Amino acid sequence: MDELQVVVDRVYNRIMAEPLEGKVADYIPALACVAPDRFGIALQMLDGRLATAGDAFSPFSIQSISKLFSLVLALQTWGDELWERVGREPSGTAFNSLVLLEQENGLPRNPFINAGALAVTNAIVSRFALPDRAIIDFLGHLAGDIKLVFDDTVFRSEYVHGDRNRAIAYFLKAHGRMENPVEAVTTAYFKQCSIPMSCVDLARAGLFLATGGKTLKGNQIIGPVEARQVCSLMLTCGLYDGTGDFSFRVGWPGKSGVGGGILAVIPGRGTACVWSPPLTEKGNSVRGMRALELLARALENGEL
Ligand code: DON
Repeated sequence: MDELQVVVDRVYNRIMAEPLEGKVADYIPALACVAPDRFGIALQMLDGRLATAGDAFSPFSIQSISKLFSLVLALQTWGDELWERVGREPSGTAFNSLVLLEQENGLPRNPFINAGALAVTNAIVSRFALPDRAIIDFLGHLAGDIKLVFDDTVFRSEYVHGDRNRAIAYFLKAHGRMENPVEAVTTAYFKQCSIPMSCVDLARAGLFLATGGKTLKGNQIIGPVEARQVCSLMLTCGLYDGTGDFSFRVGWPGKSGVGGGILAVIPGRGTACVWSPPLTEKGNSVRGMRALELLARALENGEL
């Protein structure tokens, strides 16, 4: 058996033997219906090798992992001008916090907290007639020209329970930082978060970040400088106020979502995506972080 597969199987089996800790997100009610023991790992290397374990091919709600791809799409269309709309510093506060916005003149700290992601989606709404289509088509292209769909149940569930995000959006608007209607921006944002994708789909979609911005087919998505900048933001802000601990334990740029997924970039080598719904208090997958920690150790030991 391929040595990559041996390592992934070992990590999977080791974690399956550990107690299941954490709590499945329920503030978006549709997410609470997912079985807590689902668990998948996909490791995609740049040389084409793919190793998977468990539910690696099962679609789950990507939620905030979508913020990574909306950021890249916005950078494609806005370039450096985007940074006039959103900062590049860790927030140290919860992903859905409003606290810093009040103190900092409505400028979101980074593109991965909800305020920053809404500012990025607003920038996309300004440039595309069908912004949610632009995001889903971009993601489908990156994942290997696959057809993706919005999950209407998850979308509606978040739409009905989305007042906190609307509050953030109105706050941006009050500070002159949102030129589009709040309804248009939050709808596009809830839709991008609802997209179901598997660990394998996401690992493939993120590969260009491990290669300086180029897909395996040679399509330059963003420049090498921008790819490095996006990875730096993942490393410093990708798991919100849990990023420090994640970077300490794993050391790879990562982006999490409350669906329980985490996509990590292994610079110059490939990507890893893990999925397990129970989350830490900070909204990051408990088993996902543990799996990436064990994979990073295997890489250091020369096993990958
Ligand atoms: O905006 C929200 O609350 C969700 N659609 C996404 C949050 C999320 O995934 C945070 N990640 N850990």
